[in-house]
Amino acid sequence: MKKLIPTLLLTITLPALADRMPLPSDTPASYRAECGSCHLAYPPSLLTAGDWRRLLTGLENHFGSDANLGSGEKEAIAAFLVRHAGRSSRLGDAGNPPRISQTARFVRKHREVPASFWHDPRVKSAANCEACHRGAANGHFGEHDIAIPELRE
Ligand code: HEC
Ligand code: HEC
Repeated sequence: MKKLIPTLLLTITLPALADRMPLPSDTPASYRAECGSCHLAYPPSLLTAGDWRRLLTGLENHFGSDANLGSGEKEAIAAFLVRHAGRSSRLGDAGNPPRISQTARFVRKHREVPASFWHDPRVKSAANCEACHRGAANGHFGEHDIAIPELRE
């Protein structure tokens, strides 16, 4: 019984932590301005350091968009993303080009979201986190803060 209690506490607190991912306090202004101009400025912990580096080497053709930056800005953003990157044992393979939405962790967290929602005109793409997560810009991804009523628990 004495051993069981700490284990129970852990399993209760871990999922609660996983839904809070505010941008770290050392986030460069250029990250919000540049990498948040077309989509959410994604939490850095959702890709590994290697995947962020791979992504940043192909910015001139970034999923069909030109997202290239000056080398100073790019280096500052790269250092920041690498500093706060997630572990591959936790995230799994992100594909090439890397996508948060292809990692095993993302797929597992969204297993219960019906396929039709990914194609809903309000959503369009799994990359469009804010379409479903109302608090995404503040790092809130909890299951009770979902914008689409049919998806709310
Ligand atoms: C000119 C617009 C634009 C800018 C600027 C931009 N992106 Fe993107 N990004 C896109 C588009 C378009 C996609 C693909 C979205 C989709 O599949 O719906 C994308 C996708 C992504 C994805 C994959 C999302 C997923 O599916 O998991 C990541 C990660 C990403 N961008 C990071 C960045 C970073 C880091 C920067 C800054 C260096 C950046 N983006 C700047 C347009 C942009
Ligand atoms: C089509 C709607 C939709 C989109 C788009 C979407 N999500 Fe979610 N997400 C959900 C729902 C619904 C849940 C709750 C699932 C559950 O509890 O079974 C969830 C759960 C999560 C969780 C787990 C939260 C917890 O309590 O552990 C994280 C983290 C998350 N999403 C991040 C993201 C990120 C990052 C993006 C964008 C790259 C994204 N989601 C895009 C609907 C969506």
